[in-house]
Amino acid sequence: MKPRPVAALVFLALVPAAAQPIPEAQADQRARALLAQMTLPEKIGQLSQLFYGIGPTPSDPIELVRSGSVGSFLFVTDPATTNRLQHIAVEQSPHHIPLLFGFDVVHGFHTIFPVPLALAASWDPALIRAVQSLAAREAAAVGVRWTFAPMVDIARDPRWGRIVEGAGEDPVLGSAIARAQVQGFQGPYIGAPDHVIACVKHFAGYGAADGGRDYDSSYIPDTLLWNVYLRPFEAAVQAGVGTLMSAYMDLNDVPATGNRFLLDDVLRKTWGFRGFVVSDAFSVRDLATHGFARDPADAALRALTAGVDMDMGSMTFARQLPALVQQNRVSRDRIDEAVRLILIAKIRLGLFEHPFVDEARAPQVFNDPATRRQARLAAARSAVLLRNEHSALPLNPNLASLAVLGPLADSSSDILGSWSFAGASAPAQTILQALRARLPNARIDYAPGVQLRRRFPSMFDALFGIKHPTPWSPAQARTELDRAVSLARAASTVVLVLGEAQEMSGETGSRSSLDLPGDQEKLLEAVAAAGKPTVLVVLAGRPLNLSWASAHIPAILDVWYPGVEGASATADLLFGDAVPGGKLPVTFPRSAGQIPVYYAHNLTHEPETALDFTSRYQDELTSPLYPFGYGLSYTTFSFSHLRLDKPAVPAGSTIIGSVDVANTGSRPGDEVVQIYVHQRSGSASRPVRELKFFERVSLAPGESKTVRFSLGRSDLAYWSSATRSWVNEPSAFDLWAGADSNAPLHATFDVTP
Ligand code: BGC
Repeated sequence: MKPRPVAALVFLALVPAAAQPIPEAQADQRARALLAQMTLPEKIGQLSQLFYGIGPTPSDPIELVRSGSVGSFLFVTDPATTNRLQHIAVEQSPHHIPLLFGFDVVHGFHTIFPVPLALAASWDPALIRAVQSLAAREAAAVGVRWTFAPMVDIARDPRWGRIVEGAGEDPVLGSAIARAQVQGFQGPYIGAPDHVIACVKHFAGYGAADGGRDYDSSYIPDTLLWNVYLRPFEAAVQAGVGTLMSAYMDLNDVPATGNRFLLDDVLRKTWGFRGFVVSDAFSVRDLATHGFARDPADAALRALTAGVDMDMGSMTFARQLPALVQQNRVSRDRIDEAVRLILIAKIRLGLFEHPFVDEARAPQVFNDPATRRQARLAAARSAVLLRNEHSALPLNPNLASLAVLGPLADSSSDILGSWSFAGASAPAQTILQALRARLPNARIDYAPGVQLRRRFPSMFDALFGIKHPTPWSPAQARTELDRAVSLARAASTVVLVLGEAQEMSGETGSRSSLDLPGDQEKLLEAVAAAGKPTVLVVLAGRPLNLSWASAHIPAILDVWYPGVEGASATADLLFGDAVPGGKLPVTFPRSAGQIPVYYAHNLTHEPETALDFTSRYQDELTSPLYPFGYGLSYTTFSFSHLRLDKPAVPAGSTIIGSVDVANTGSRPGDEVVQIYVHQRSGSASRPVRELKFFERVSLAPGESKTVRFSLGRSDLAYWSSATRSWVNEPSAFDLWAGADSNAPLHATFDVTP
């Protein structure tokens, strides 16, 4: 084909996206028309995505673009490079099909917001929608039109490093956050200006990896699959997510990337998903590594026929599909179907009309102060106050001297958390710097006390050439610890910042222990022994074992990895300019030995309430350190007047309720109203409690609000492994309302036949 005239394309270049939605049917028609003209190699090109700029690139990427052998790149974040590659695609490739640029915009692009687990702790879907919309705007400004997010894997094992990327342990909270993220990234329609197409991942069950080891097999019984692990994916599909990513691991012995049950029976046939599926990186090739596919050809065959449309990174489709088609082992129709779905996405994104990006615009978008303000607000709303004995917090802003201690207190990179590559160019303030700025007249001393490092390096070290400081000698380590302790003794107040360096969390960031890594526990106990009012600020991407701290340190504030404005938000919280209102999206165990420990477990034949309770550890409590949904405030709240509109409803009908929540303290603050339900009998045992509704409300001192909720058919239905179907069963139900998963305020209702 002849190249298209360049002038026409340049004219269109500066409009970033489709200002009007392109109806799916129209996009489909255009895709089919284009498909009819394409050769098989070009079609296979559309199914192939390549990494650009990191790791080895298999061949000359420019030539691949020119010949139409690649349809998408990931990791291109520089607008000039985007445009350069795009010019070649739309001017020189056979059918001028634009490239789709993807990137992991997980919690911000240039402006790094709190990590997803932190955002989940805000229990504030509207905030999360707003945050991801801003993240999309920054990404779109460099030409990234596809994010590999949201990650909606339910995780009930905090040893798993990627728990930081999701919304925690609960399907209802996880589904609400999945929806909010899809809406935030994609905006009102796929192709909306300043937005990107989202990719829900990793389908499905990645969070249940054996032993919490990344990539290890997941074994998930069907009851948990349907009632827990699949729920947020279904919510994302219902919210109109444009694309979906397969997962790395075996699910019940079948690798997710070759899993027809997941990708076809559930995703397409049951949920009616109409977008396209991309593999996780290299996972098509790795179907052979798993001991599942015989060889690369078999891997390509099984991924494509299971339902993967695009091969991320491995070029296995590119290398194997031509021969497979020739041998009639793969049908041309299946290839056409995959290409059609990818073309529809490109058409709806408006890439054919507006393939380029305005290179001058990115700095302007990046420097929008409103985005920084939102980052600060999000960090403040994500923090969870775990302990505050005798109102140790907020701190007195007139304090004379402060010791800021700990290996994370003066770090500008750890505060960002994982998946913050593109944001690393905007250095974050450290907590030490923020406290110095807040208290210009106080004496502030700092010592790290200990060093933090992984025992085995992170895969990102090699990929991005990350260098770590030389480890201290034993003598140096002793001196540094002593120095920190003497600063604690000399100060009037101590802020200790402990937790995990960011590379200890995230992909390949699994741990066998939840203890504070390195010598931090030693530092904690030695500093506490100095006897000064001490606040522990925790920076981490997972629940940690804070058992000792929870018994000895009066104030503990978990800020997770709070992002580029995390330090200023932490200072806001410590001095009471912001009031903590976040709640745990995941249970905090007392130690790794309690795992799995999640609130929505079933009753045993000897529940904890029984007098002869023996279903327990002989050496540890069975209750967690902090329950799901838990978090304190600087004010106090009370719940009352739990009412249901009727004592009984027929199965499938809706019951409506309300509860009053009042701020009983002297400061304004937020409470998250949580409603839990238990079905007392049925065809299968049901969890002791399941979250069914939540709402974060702001209340002035003395103010009270009535929060209404309704529980309909889908809220009370569950997938029964006895009937192997979704059921709405007659039963007596318990209902609780309150501030966490131990909420005491109780009511009952019946569901009748
Ligand atoms: C991760 C995905 C990510 C992809 C591309 C993989 O290693 O599992 O979550 O989207 O890399 O960066």
